[in-house]
Amino acid sequence: MSTYSTITEQLDDAEAARTEGRRKMDWARQHMPILEALREEYEADQPFAGQRIAMAMHVEAKTANLVELLADGGAEVAVTGCNPLSTHDDVSAALDAHERITSYAKRGVDDEEYYEAIHAVLDISPTITVDDGMDMVAAVHEDYPELIDSLLGGCEETTTGVHRLRAMDEDGALEYPVFAVNDTPMKRLFDNVHGTGESALANIAMTTNLSWAGKTVVIAGYGDCGRGLAKKAAGQNANVVVTEVEPRRALEAHMEGYDVMPMAEAAEVGDVFITVTGNRDVITKEHFESMKDGVLLANAGHFDIEVDLAALDDLAADRYEAREGVEAFELDDGRRLNVLAEGRLVNLASPIALGHPVEVMDQSFGVQAVCVRELVDNADAYEPGVHDVPDELDKRVAEIKLAADGVEFDALTDEQREYMGSWEHGT
Ligand code: NAI
Repeated sequence: MSTYSTITEQLDDAEAARTEGRRKMDWARQHMPILEALREEYEADQPFAGQRIAMAMHVEAKTANLVELLADGGAEVAVTGCNPLSTHDDVSAALDAHERITSYAKRGVDDEEYYEAIHAVLDISPTITVDDGMDMVAAVHEDYPELIDSLLGGCEETTTGVHRLRAMDEDGALEYPVFAVNDTPMKRLFDNVHGTGESALANIAMTTNLSWAGKTVVIAGYGDCGRGLAKKAAGQNANVVVTEVEPRRALEAHMEGYDVMPMAEAAEVGDVFITVTGNRDVITKEHFESMKDGVLLANAGHFDIEVDLAALDDLAADRYEAREGVEAFELDDGRRLNVLAEGRLVNLASPIALGHPVEVMDQSFGVQAVCVRELVDNADAYEPGVHDVPDELDKRVAEIKLAADGVEFDALTDEQREYMGSWEHGT
């Protein structure tokens, strides 16, 4: 009897999770006009019929709409997370209920379970991979090289993944073509700048219930993400300090009016630290030693190695959960340094994290969707290696978005086009 009721309760829970996951997806879908426009096209054309797509992405409502679009366009899809903490289990359950989708994504997995799920996804024998951080491409090359011959290509979502792919390509080790989706304007200028800026700041504020006004916020790394974070933190009346290692980026931050200084100095003045460099060991022992009591430490870069948590743990006399999503490391002298989301991507891995705003991800995933189609339609055009997203595809995604938002814009006249293409006109 008790066993029967336990099973019934579990089935009810699973059904409730699927329903909730679907509700989240439906809400996101209402605000994703680019994916909706592509859906109409792909449902009619079935461009992915016969394709098998292996994906490692942050499995939450917006990504789920991309996954479902690919499946509804004819593909068989297997998906898992690209971060142990960013999966929404209800969304994963809703996806898994689709007849052509298997989701292995689960929140809170350990390293072993994380890589087991990537291997399980690869059991689909993919013809296309879609990655966020390059873990899938790495697993193909390291553990399943026999899959390479049948892979048409892949798509990579984030800066860190593209860095890793380019390094692999330079070593001559990348054996199939991959689109650097991250680098294309319709992704980078919106997702990295606005998406990371808005969602990281919103998550830190919601997780801590603290204000930005009057705080000194140290942004480590003034790339596309750092630029957005700095602008939006300043817009909420924070004093922004930038740390950089690249002289032109440091100068750009200086000319924008932010204080630029080495981390060793910033450590002494900051109230909130946000790393977004894609590098490692950006905040280390020497910096912890000079920080003020009560500082917040958050990472918005891809991997959890920007803040040296092992060194912080060595320094700490005590560690405890100060609030959900906030761990205090208390030092011998009583100072408390608060780490958010275990040092993982704060906008995706903290307990209340929702990731980027929906509209921004519609653009990024619109680019992903047209790139997957390009790999199917024109596979022969791409050699192994990293490829830019074709400009006409990037522009097409922008045009769909502008049309959806009712924004009209000018077109070149024939005379202007001729002038712009000519070297003969001078004074
Ligand atoms: P980017 O390459 O445009 O900028 C990174 C900047 O950090 C560069 O200017 C570089 O000079 C600087 N930098 C490197 N090492 C540094 C150090 N030790 N100290 C100070 N500055 C340093 O990259 P982008 O697009 O801004 O991405 C940064 C990271 O954020 C990547 O890991 C990327 O994958 C991740 N990302 C995270 C997102 C999120 O949702 N949280 C969204 C998009 C990207």
